[in-house]
Amino acid sequence: MSELTVNHLLGIKYLQSEDIELIFQTAAQFKEVINRPIKKVPSLRDITVANLFFENSTRTRLSFELAEKRLSADVVNFSAASSSVSKGETLIDTVNNILSMKVDMVVMRHPKPGAAYFLSQHVDSIIVNAGDGAHEHPTQALLDSFSIRERLGDLAGKKIAIVGDILHSRVALSNILCLQKMGAEVEVCGPSTLIPKHIHSLGVRVSHDLRKSLEWCDVANMLRVQHERQDLKYFPSIREYTQRYGIDKALLDDLQHKIVIMHPGPINRGVEISTEVADSDQSIILNQVENGVAIRMAVLYLLAAKKKISFSA
Ligand code: CP
Repeated sequence: MSELTVNHLLGIKYLQSEDIELIFQTAAQFKEVINRPIKKVPSLRDITVANLFFENSTRTRLSFELAEKRLSADVVNFSAASSSVSKGETLIDTVNNILSMKVDMVVMRHPKPGAAYFLSQHVDSIIVNAGDGAHEHPTQALLDSFSIRERLGDLAGKKIAIVGDILHSRVALSNILCLQKMGAEVEVCGPSTLIPKHIHSLGVRVSHDLRKSLEWCDVANMLRVQHERQDLKYFPSIREYTQRYGIDKALLDDLQHKIVIMHPGPINRGVEISTEVADSDQSIILNQVENGVAIRMAVLYLLAAKKKISFSA
C-alpha cells in the first residue's frame, strides 16, 4: 500500500491497519531525516498549513509546527484567545476566511467533539484533527503506538494498560482503537466513576485495581486527571486518587516483571505518576514527544501526497 485510504485525519476509527502501517513506515524514514544535521526535506514546499488551536496545547502545537517546517511548508498559527472568535465569528466563517488566503491544510484542536469532522464536511481543505474535546486525538495515538513498537519490537499480542481518567480522555479512545487495530490487547484501569459505562462495547478489559493491571501489562500508559473537563467530583480527593491510581517507584520496583511507562503529557507529577517513575529508564515519555514530530510529518506528507499537492523529495 502506497497511499492512505482517507483524505483527512479525523480519527483512528476511520483508519485501516494498513493506513497505520504506512504512517509508521513513513514516520520511521522521517525520524531518520530529523536526526540528520540538515533536518529539512522539500516535500511540502509551496504548501501552506494553518494550525488552528481553539484549546491550549504545548506538545501537539509545537510538534505540528516543527513537522510542517521540517517538510518546508509555510505555516500560519491561530489561537482562539487572540482571534475574532471572541467577537462571535463562527468556526466555518473563521476557517473559510483563512482558506481564502490560499491555505492548503488545516490542523485543528477544538474543545467540541466532532469539530474536525464537521469542518471536513463544510470547507475545501485537508483537515487534521489535533484533538476534539473528549473524542479523539489521532496523532497522539499514532505516536504512542509507534513508540511502543519501537521499544518492544511489535504491537501484536502486547498487553497495554491505560490508567486513569478514561471518561474525559480523547487519548484513551484513540489509543484503544489504534492498539486494537495493530493487534494489541487493552485494559483500562481507574475508579468506576472515571470509566465510561459503554467501555465493554470497545472490547477492552476493565480493572479497578492498579497493581493487578500493572502485573498484567507490558506497558502502562498513565493518563492525566483532567481537572479542566471535570465539573463534578469523580473521586473524594487528589490524595486518595494518588494512593489508589498513582504509580510510584516502590510499586514499579515491586512488580514481578519490568514494564514500560508512558504518559501523553502534560504530567501532574506526584498525582498519577511520581517524578522518579516519570524520569526512570523504564519511561519512554520523551521518546513519545520525539516520535510525535516524525508521526506528524508522515501524516501531513501522506495526506498531501493523496491529494497530489506534495513535492516529490
Ligand atoms: N499530549 C498532548 O496533547 O499535549 P498538549 O495538550 O500539550 O498538546
